[in-house]
Amino acid sequence: MNGTALTENEIIAWLREEDPQKLEVLFRKADLLRRQHVGEAVHLRGLVEISNICRRNCLYCGVRASRSNIKRYRLAAEEVLEGARLAADFGYGTVVIQGGEDFSLDAVFVAGIVREIKKLGLAVTLSLGERPEADWRLWREAGADRYLIRFETSNRSLFDVIHPRVGKKDSFGFDGRLGSLLTLRGMGYEIGSGVMIGIPGQSYRDLARDLILFQLLDLDMIGTGPFLAHPETPLGKAALALAAAPDAPLEEKWKLAADAGFDYPIPDDQVPSSNLMAFKVIALTRLLLPDSNIPSTTAIATNDAVHGRVTGLMSGANVVMPNLTPTKYRAMYEIYPNKSATFDSPEETHRKAIEQIREAGRTPGTGPGGRRGSPRGRF
Ligand code: 5AD
Repeated sequence: MNGTALTENEIIAWLREEDPQKLEVLFRKADLLRRQHVGEAVHLRGLVEISNICRRNCLYCGVRASRSNIKRYRLAAEEVLEGARLAADFGYGTVVIQGGEDFSLDAVFVAGIVREIKKLGLAVTLSLGERPEADWRLWREAGADRYLIRFETSNRSLFDVIHPRVGKKDSFGFDGRLGSLLTLRGMGYEIGSGVMIGIPGQSYRDLARDLILFQLLDLDMIGTGPFLAHPETPLGKAALALAAAPDAPLEEKWKLAADAGFDYPIPDDQVPSSNLMAFKVIALTRLLLPDSNIPSTTAIATNDAVHGRVTGLMSGANVVMPNLTPTKYRAMYEIYPNKSATFDSPEETHRKAIEQIREAGRTPGTGPGGRRGSPRGRF
């Protein structure tokens, strides 16, 4: 590990820092490390959202199983491949296939798609949630290079509350989620994880520990972004109720959250879900893991369509993930409201990404852009 050694308290101090001049020191340092370790290239990953069908009921997510007023979709293989061909045409090195925990998304079907995309010479990242190990092995054998699965928070009790388990054996729980990252690494995948910033209940110490866990796991990819309140989810409702009562005593805040369906004590040092906090997290992540791949995420771009993505790139990030899902499905993948690029054509999405990379003074990456050089990862 060649990252900066930072203690939990040092990280907390940075997360709490509000002096713009001092923060400038942090952002410059992160940007310098980014340049030294991963260069000026910004890697483009074409994102295809394969299915919004999900068996889970995560309290923050707009495509949770119990939400009945959205249309559900699953792409045909050809629709995914269309996105992959666009990615190849645009010169991207990677396709990311992301979806809900949709168990009718058959493992053999996904393996077939992976094989086809590999023929285009692209790296393949999968982000399909908790699946049986046999599926992950099959996909790896089909040529998948990387797997993303965020742990969302390192606070075990908060994790448990926001991730109700489907049957005791059928979802992993906190330990299982962390263990799955090690399993995936053992299979030869590059591994990615991350957290949401400012989820109700998250304290500064929680967030600092998230960052230390990124370093401990030696993650290849770290995606983070502000929590965005979806009004049709319990956590979104809780966040909106709390925002309307900023000065309420803590017991009352707990009650407001519980009434919204999120029964968890709100700490007196609740982390805000701001882009500034997200930029601090990106910068600190770069300090801790200087050669990792860090995206300036869609959640950041959603919070601030004009400056979000560019500022992320200038705070330590080196990856963007333009959405290449066929436009007619995009609005249905509504994990949070007003998601950036929902109504853009793929060409428009691409044009904006390139424009923003240039605005940040950088160049679009070429090649797969894996952390460990070869698209097949570590082995
Ligand atoms: N706000 C911000 N991020 C969210 N995600 C899911 N729901 C929300 C939300 N309401 C993030 C989770 C998930 C990723 C795909 O999107 O971190 O892992």
